Amino acid sequence: MTTALKPWPYPRWAAHRGAGKLAPENTMSAFRLGAQHGYRFFECDAKLSKDGVLFLMHDATLERTTNGHGIGGELTMGEIAQLDAGSWHSRAYAGEALPTLEALARWCLANHLHLNVEIKPTPGQEEETGRACGELMNRIWPKDIVQPLFTSFKASSLKCAREVAPHIPRGLLVDKLADGTGDADLKIALDLDCSAMVLNQGLWSPELVAKVHGAGLRCSSYTVNDEWAAQRLIDLGTDGIITDRVDLFSPAQTGKHI
Ligand code: G3P
Ligand code: CA
Repeated sequence: MTTALKPWPYPRWAAHRGAGKLAPENTMSAFRLGAQHGYRFFECDAKLSKDGVLFLMHDATLERTTNGHGIGGELTMGEIAQLDAGSWHSRAYAGEALPTLEALARWCLANHLHLNVEIKPTPGQEEETGRACGELMNRIWPKDIVQPLFTSFKASSLKCAREVAPHIPRGLLVDKLADGTGDADLKIALDLDCSAMVLNQGLWSPELVAKVHGAGLRCSSYTVNDEWAAQRLIDLGTDGIITDRVDLFSPAQTGKHI
């Protein structure tokens, strides 16, 4: 017996970290650039500062994407806000700041855009980061419009986000199938009452799509940067695609891509 599919009120295409590699990831310039390419759904990485503010950064450490050093979550938001998160990318973005998640969320709200918050905790802060994401959205995101999507590789982060904000849809991120079949990961996603499984794109097979859809969950993929790969996922009947290539893929495309 199959279960009714969970709602998926999001565009198929989501812009990864704002605009992939075209602008410094997780900065407001990146999200603006993604929007200029027609994207209406944005993935970002959120973690907690030392003083409990959610900010955007992928890595736990500052070196790759800022001029800072050490663990980002060990700085206050005041310190994080002074970092240069653009020069590593290119001169045009020198001085770009790391935004708070609240700033991005308010920009999405003001522009009627959809948001996928990947809860990306500094190691050891899985639970408080999940709770903080739920609390922030409870405070600022109106209940009568499409909610953001929370995703995480960390089941404990999704569990805590759910406890605080059960109405916000969740997706379990999976980089490698725990048991090779997807059954173990699907069980975790079902236990968390997730709406979706968001997999490393190569993991999807017709059998796994049928299994996940059959359980009522949506199927999404990261990070899809090739036309052949996008076409494969569309042909498989999956629901979401997260891409760096906002310059290559038109987000208005819904059927055959190529
Ligand atoms: O949210 C999908 C994708 O961003 C997960 O991987 O390492 O790019 O955060 P990563
Ligand atoms: Ca991410």
